[in-house]
Amino acid sequence: MSILDIVIAPSTVLSKKACTVLNIDKSINSLVNDMYDTMYENNGVGLAAPQVNHSLQILIMDCSNRDDSFKPIVLINPIIINYSEILNTYEEGCLSFPDQYFEVKRPEFVKVKYLDIKGNSKEKVFNGFEAVCVQHEIDHLAGTLFTSYISRLKRQIIIKKMQKLKKILNKAI
Ligand code: NI
Repeated sequence: MSILDIVIAPSTVLSKKACTVLNIDKSINSLVNDMYDTMYENNGVGLAAPQVNHSLQILIMDCSNRDDSFKPIVLINPIIINYSEILNTYEEGCLSFPDQYFEVKRPEFVKVKYLDIKGNSKEKVFNGFEAVCVQHEIDHLAGTLFTSYISRLKRQIIIKKMQKLKKILNKAI
């Protein structure tokens, strides 16, 4: 188990569609464990594999600090198969955009089809904050960042800020 380096935007790996996982082998299990360590170390509630420089359709979530009944979950090759017409607005953050928060409008609930870590096909409805989180992370797997929901001007300002930050942090990726 180890803590991985988080990719800060802008970065190619964050902007492209992640690859489908074909075989849930030891390396995938090990990556998922490392993703958990990395997410908890950074106080995140969700993390997508491209954020740790693995272009794979894997995301993890743990919303238990908002909802006691929530259990940490791994979703492999997730697809949204249904969503509500009603939209909610929520202030989102992203580990790939340190200290940046802004409001995003998304469906109030979504039904997602995915594979669990054992390769079983599952379906689950996500509501409220979990729905915000799972949609944000599924977006990452498509190469869509939450900055795509704000104005172009605001986006350009944030990207410049991130480019400066990456220079300071001396990030190669
Ligand atoms: Ni994010």
